[in-house]
Amino acid sequence: MPETAETFDDAMSRWREWQEAPWGRLRYTLAEANLLRSLGEDAARPLRVLDLAGGDGGDAVRLAALGHHVTVVDQAPAMLAAAAGRAEAAGLGALVTCVQADVLALPADLARAGFDVVLCHNLLQYVDDVRAVLATSLTSLRPGGLFSVMAVNRHAAPLLTAVREGDLAAALASLDADRTRARTFDAELRLYTAEETTAHLAALGCRDVCHYGIRSVCDHLTDDARKYEPAYYAELERLELALTARHPYPHTARLFQLTARKEQG
Ligand SMILES: C[S@@+](CC[C@H](N)C(=O)[O-])C[C@H]1O[C@@H](n2cnc3c(N)ncnc32)[C@H](O)[C@@H]1O
Repeated sequence: MPETAETFDDAMSRWREWQEAPWGRLRYTLAEANLLRSLGEDAARPLRVLDLAGGDGGDAVRLAALGHHVTVVDQAPAMLAAAAGRAEAAGLGALVTCVQADVLALPADLARAGFDVVLCHNLLQYVDDVRAVLATSLTSLRPGGLFSVMAVNRHAAPLLTAVREGDLAAALASLDADRTRARTFDAELRLYTAEETTAHLAALGCRDVCHYGIRSVCDHLTDDARKYEPAYYAELERLELALTARHPYPHTARLFQLTARKEQG
């Protein structure tokens, strides 16, 4: 069953706590760096960006701060209100538009708008029909536009269970598991891999797929308290930025981010 809007709205304070934690900050820093890398010269002009399941605007406000126009779509009203509030507080209200909708039932004007960039970050783990979500996302993108999708990496689950929990039996049992429980939201997470998502993207007519790892080492380091020390965090961020596109490290990172170009015409 897909999660309801309440699942997300009810956990707003835990979500904000997660975003402000070192591992939350790294997720947004890395995603932005990877997007800019994949966009190349395109990032220098103002782009029209659609952020599907954009939540409280963590990605959107960063992109607006770079001069891009971002439309955030989400089903959860409290998340969207927070996104609008964040944009206003940053003086970027004119660049961020918030629309309440299900990503699988987008208003026709958005579905046909031909955005330059479409983001679908951390939604796949809450849906059963990944192919439908990816297809809808690509419908809103112009030919040649950039798509970015991020999700929890199934390959990381057994490693993290072994390293962080020291529970080797559970790690072994989780080798073939395709579900786990979320920590921030009261929800079940579907676990996918970059490889299977890349295959969907290729079948849907995407090219130039880049596979980035989000948090290649952070989650494997068990001393979480140390990550709050500014000097240690700065070193960790440098290392993560160095590893994010350096294979094989992305294959065991906590999350995968794939960027791809929609085929022209
Ligand atoms: C983990 S949050 C991610 C938010 C944002 N993309 C980010 O990474 O910061 C997941 C978001 O997906 C939204 N969501 C889940 N299913 C959805 C659907 N079918 N349509 C629209 N939004 C959905 C939730 O309301 C929630 O805000």
